[in-house]
Amino acid sequence: MEQYVIKGGNPLVGEVDIAGAKNAALAILSAAIMTDETILIENLPDVRDINVLLEAIAEIGAQVERVDKSTVKINGSTIGNLSVDYEFIKKIRASYYLLGALLGKYKHAEVPLPGGCNIGSRPIDQHLKGFRALGAEVDIRHGAIVAKAENLHGSHIFLDVVSVGATINIMMAASMAAGRTIIENAAREPHVVDVANFLNSMGANIKGAGTDVIRIRGVEKLHRTEYSIIPDQIEAGTFMFAAAATGGDVTVRNVIPKHLEATTAKLEEIGCEVEEFDDAVRVRAPHKLHRTHVKTLPYPGYPTDMQPQIAVTLALAEGTSIVTESIFENRFKYADELSRMGANIKVEGNSAIIDGVKKLTGARVSAPDLRAGAALVIAGLAAEGVTVVDDIVYIQRGYENFEEKLRSLGAEIERVSSEKEIQKFRLRVG
Ligand code: EPZ
Repeated sequence: MEQYVIKGGNPLVGEVDIAGAKNAALAILSAAIMTDETILIENLPDVRDINVLLEAIAEIGAQVERVDKSTVKINGSTIGNLSVDYEFIKKIRASYYLLGALLGKYKHAEVPLPGGCNIGSRPIDQHLKGFRALGAEVDIRHGAIVAKAENLHGSHIFLDVVSVGATINIMMAASMAAGRTIIENAAREPHVVDVANFLNSMGANIKGAGTDVIRIRGVEKLHRTEYSIIPDQIEAGTFMFAAAATGGDVTVRNVIPKHLEATTAKLEEIGCEVEEFDDAVRVRAPHKLHRTHVKTLPYPGYPTDMQPQIAVTLALAEGTSIVTESIFENRFKYADELSRMGANIKVEGNSAIIDGVKKLTGARVSAPDLRAGAALVIAGLAAEGVTVVDDIVYIQRGYENFEEKLRSLGAEIERVSSEKEIQKFRLRVG
């Protein structure tokens, strides 16, 4: 088991490049199997979730050629197996995107039902409702979703909750359904738009992505394309908060500043200076930060994937802040870990009440999930003394070269895998 060991206290200073968006890439890689021609995808993040999905895609018979760490070629003409193994869905929920992709292309897909996960119960009823509306018969058999159709046909679908996954999954299947589909109350996240742009570049006919009504005219076939994935707004936001919490000055490059507006607005509210360039954002935190309230919402609201990072930053801000989580019920698991570092944070229902403290102190903490893990690293960077973050396997699911990027900004952080290495680090940093 690997850990991060961090000596806190250095303000982060410098420039950092942001990788491609993990959550866009997961859907785009799945959609790439929907043609028999070869697809080239660039700006892939080199993170665990992506590598597992590529294995799942190869496992069903598609050809996957990793050209370099951020480029892959996929050819779906050799797919011989329409059933995805549980091993993959267990490791990465988003392999359920293969359901929409296989159903659209072959009118048949079998994917194990994902279980709950550590950020809360995550039903997929809206995905299934969408597939049924498109004419598929959907059953749960022996723990797997079996979706089959003679023919898929367009439909008018009203989502009961705004769901990124359901919007994308339905969009994929509907791209190859006969006639017109309208998805109402669709998610508007940048990665929904990116997946629509990708499918359109393969010959799909999708309009309105980025608004809450998406219109799709089904086509019979999709074709080859070359596509570059958008930058990861959550990775970018994580570095922006790392700059804020450490009193630093960081320019995050290769971003789309428009996608970061909710994060930027909150940083400015708490006293940071944020400067936007064409494809970069500079965050400076020259003064003591102050309190704010924040509630997570679907895009363009404040993202749930940025909730732990702002909470950690507010733990060091002057005054009392309230952070409300409205998307996933179990996303405050890091609160007890943060308390162990001296934060004053109390969770009541779906809100965390945070009384800012003057300093955090290093401690041994455990990453409960991907974003909370990254937030605990931020806490470690801002804290006095040494912090050890256990279970960093979660962080590696979604952050490319996290420790190297932080080190390039002046952080003292190492990835270690034994108590001996932790001791060595402690001795070295004093
Ligand atoms: C995506 O998950 C992201 N994952 C999550 O990122 C992100 O937190 C989430 O969107 C919200 O932005 C990927 O893109 C792979 P949802 P997804 O369907 O699609 C409820 C990260 O850290 N719901 O938009 O699973 C659901 O319970 C991850 O990178 C239903 O009730 O999220 C939740 O309350 C974690 N029925 C809300 O909708 C459904 O059928 C939003 O979920 C589907 C969802």
